[in-house]
Amino acid sequence: MIYLDEAATTPVKREVMEAMWPYLGPRFGNPSSHHEVGEAAAAGLEQARADVATFLGARPSEITFTSGGTESDNTAIKGIALAQPRGRHVIVSAVEHPAVLESAAWLGRLGYDVDELPVDRFGMVHPESLDAVLRDDTTLVSVQLANNEVGTIQQVETLSRIAAERGVPFHTDAVQAAGWMDLDVSRLGVQALSISGHKLGAPKGVGVLHVHRRTPFEPLIHGGGQQGGRRSGTEAVALAVGMAAALRLAAGGDPGDVIERRDAFIARVLAENVGAQLTGHPAHRLPGSASFVFPGRSGESVLLDLERHGVVSSSGSACAAGSDEPSHVLTAMGYDREVAQTAVRFTFGRDVTGEQLDLAAGQVGVLGAGGARTHAAGDLDHVFRAQAIGRGKGLGGVRIEHALQHAFAVAQVDKDHATVIAAAMNPAADGDGFAGQRFGDLAAVVGTHHFGNAFCKGQSEP
Ligand SMILES: Cc1ncc(COP(=O)(O)O)c(C=O)c1O
Repeated sequence: MIYLDEAATTPVKREVMEAMWPYLGPRFGNPSSHHEVGEAAAAGLEQARADVATFLGARPSEITFTSGGTESDNTAIKGIALAQPRGRHVIVSAVEHPAVLESAAWLGRLGYDVDELPVDRFGMVHPESLDAVLRDDTTLVSVQLANNEVGTIQQVETLSRIAAERGVPFHTDAVQAAGWMDLDVSRLGVQALSISGHKLGAPKGVGVLHVHRRTPFEPLIHGGGQQGGRRSGTEAVALAVGMAAALRLAAGGDPGDVIERRDAFIARVLAENVGAQLTGHPAHRLPGSASFVFPGRSGESVLLDLERHGVVSSSGSACAAGSDEPSHVLTAMGYDREVAQTAVRFTFGRDVTGEQLDLAAGQVGVLGAGGARTHAAGDLDHVFRAQAIGRGKGLGGVRIEHALQHAFAVAQVDKDHATVIAAAMNPAADGDGFAGQRFGDLAAVVGTHHFGNAFCKGQSEP
């Protein structure tokens, strides 16, 4: 299997596990306890905090360990906005992760004004647009360092300078940039920054929030006053140690080789006769990100085809996978809804080999041969896939649901085709009635006796 979905998550690195192990075992103490066991844990925690601070060019007291990127983003946006250093106006970009967009929307429901900065075709925020919406009562600007769906890197240094000239704090979501870019907060000119552990070789469930000591901040989690009162609760020491180790391992090294491999991959995918178009900025993009749309195809069927051939990728944000809504990132970039639904992103780490990327590009090329196949064949693939999944051989329920939704949609517009699908789905009926209700729905649309009998055993009459 070639795993090209590192923007969704990464495996935990062995060195990270080894760094964590003592804090799961002998140094298991509560870092607030005033005895030997507690102090051993506290020492590990504070060393991790100091290491993360060094990595960000910050002070240890400015570092809060959180449960991940979503919590860091929520805490930054809400914590700074609720402290209201200047007023009740917040600015975010239109291509932020939902952790930022939904936090801003929540503030909107509390009566804050929220402005979204538009992006161009490449997903870039233009500095003039920030200048135009900054107000005397703007309390926070949040623009990500790099996008999770299309890899575009924003000009955060320029944007933060514009905010600073007006005295407005600036937060950046560096979840995807961590491990690739220099995250020195002074150089970036940001007062708050979010990172997530599981995107760079630490376990899921840990993240970092940096907030500058002079930036007014209202804690969201109250309790025993741990982490300087910014986030109460007994600290997850082993996770914090793992986070620091992952950042250490990710630091340094020239991503130049990865950029070369990525560009060769992009060139090859574009050269295959499959109608792929690159999304995101051609040059200002993360070294480990190549994203495309495949107009005229279903992004989901491209993913399923690739996965059957051993290449694992995704349609964009992992959070949106399984949803039929087109990506808000691509629509903000000006793609129409239909094309936005054909998005596929390939994301990889530094250790990806040219050979792996070549094999993956070759499999994308095979889609070209498949292009001659009828739509029906492609849809049958979905059905077979759903069957395999339903028998416990593959992925989870979201995919089953997705495949079924697709078959369902096709059946609604094309009855002949639906009959073919029904026949292909026949073997599924001898299973344990998985997703039976959905098959039942499809049967109702198809309305064939054959189909109805095959799939509605034990279900209410369609
Ligand atoms: C840009 C960005 N921000 C925030 C998050 C949320 O991070 P987490 O999964 O750690 O909650 C993600 C996760 O995909 C992301 O890509």
